[in-house]
Amino acid sequence: MYKGPALIEFPRIGNTMQGYISVSENDTLPFEVNRVYWTYYTPESIRRGGHAHYELEQILVAVAGKIIVETEMPGGLKERFILESPSVGLLLPKFCWHVMQYTHSSVQMCIANIAYEERDYIRDYNEFIKLPFAEK
Ligand code: TYD
Repeated sequence: MYKGPALIEFPRIGNTMQGYISVSENDTLPFEVNRVYWTYYTPESIRRGGHAHYELEQILVAVAGKIIVETEMPGGLKERFILESPSVGLLLPKFCWHVMQYTHSSVQMCIANIAYEERDYIRDYNEFIKLPFAEK
């Protein structure tokens, strides 16, 4: 079976008087980090994503605002996550179809295991639903 998406709690250092720091280091993440990218100024009417990956695993964090993430795994398990805390991440494993929608001022940070490669994308939903249910 494929491993499904999962929420991750990052440590929260600080207090309401001074504010907070959240941190992640390689020994507390499920993969070694090779890329960090961020998405911002996305109009509220736009749904981004709409793809899965063969090798990419990533953790999405709403460092500001709110992000609604809809996921689907091979075999049909569909889930919906609301990210609205800078100390919570959503792990999207490989083969996880995902679609994101953002509030006006939200900023999404993505922590990823590999560099960008277009050939790692599965952008055709008909191709995605043909993926075998069990991981080879
Ligand atoms: P895409 O991953 O489809 O964005 P989203 O999942 O947010 O909808 O990428 C959008 C475009 O940006 C696409 O043309 C590929 C390009 N891109 C890069 O060049 N480098 C990157 O690291 C990423 C994530 C995307």
